[in-house]
Amino acid sequence: MEILDELEQIRRDGLSALQSVTDEPALEAWRVAHLGRSAPVMQVFSRMGQAAKEQRPIIGQAANQVKLALEAALAETAQVVKEAALQRSLQAERLDVSLPGRRPVQGRLHIETQTLREMYRVFGEMGFQVYRSPDVESDDNNFTALNIPAHHPARDMWDTFYTANPSVLLRTHTSPGQIRAMRQFAPDPIRVALPGMCYRYEQAGARKDIQFMQVELLAVGYNITFGDLKGTLRDFAQRMFGERLRTRLRPSYFPFTEPSAEMDVECVICHGKGCGVCKGSGWLEIMGCGMVHPVVLQNGGYDPSRFTGFAAGMGPGRIAMLRHAIEDIRSLYTNDIRFLEQF
Ligand code: PHE
Repeated sequence: MEILDELEQIRRDGLSALQSVTDEPALEAWRVAHLGRSAPVMQVFSRMGQAAKEQRPIIGQAANQVKLALEAALAETAQVVKEAALQRSLQAERLDVSLPGRRPVQGRLHIETQTLREMYRVFGEMGFQVYRSPDVESDDNNFTALNIPAHHPARDMWDTFYTANPSVLLRTHTSPGQIRAMRQFAPDPIRVALPGMCYRYEQAGARKDIQFMQVELLAVGYNITFGDLKGTLRDFAQRMFGERLRTRLRPSYFPFTEPSAEMDVECVICHGKGCGVCKGSGWLEIMGCGMVHPVVLQNGGYDPSRFTGFAAGMGPGRIAMLRHAIEDIRSLYTNDIRFLEQF
């Protein structure tokens, strides 16, 4: 039968064409040509109706075998092609695992934030809790309730930025937080640390800026004495600056404390001998402090005949400057990476 010879030829043609297939697109093209709807073997099936009746099963069986043979060859070649593709990509995209890795750029906390957190830690161990109060304050909290009446010359100590509303301003210190904390917790004894930005309308320079961070400390309770103030602040200074550094208190004046003092630590650079950083005095000023004024206790809601307390205000920027011998406070805010990377 002629058609059987033709089928045999179809089989040989298909298998030999498959020899030259080495990649996926060629394989797909081969599949369409040799097993697709209009492939020669498929045409044999559709032509079968023309054959004599008794020949049809023979032709059908033979055509089927050719089709199965081509399908089996296709599957086999597909496997080979896939393996070859994998090998090629393994070769081409070879990884050199001995190359050193790329180090990610790692940021860090700003030196002032690091210092602030260390202060929280020290104060936290002494029982002080962080209490936040707003930067935009009322004239009353920033001045009047702190025993600085309107038009009193003491207001000259803190000039600020005012808003269109004359009774709303940017706080000049964290002390108004004292009023807020007292009013929230009175008559319970409290120990709070009040951090935040403060603003002053003044000539900026190496030692002061129009905006700076401050941390206020406030303790109110029964039988709190100046000895508690001194012990707490000296312990704090020694933990921040080292055990061996001496501290001293100098009399000072603040309207909201009585008596008031200024705390100095021995110069971290020259240890009291006198140098450029301490301007020859051997001492560095680190904070203002004092016993909370009875008027302020009263304004906060405490009975000054039963309660006493102490307060202090200090700048973490200044403390960082003293600990790391930073000469210009503006370095803290100018974002010079060469400065920031040192800490
Ligand atoms: N508020 C004062 C200042 O900014 C510092 C201070 C706080 C002094 C608490 C005494 C008590 O200058």
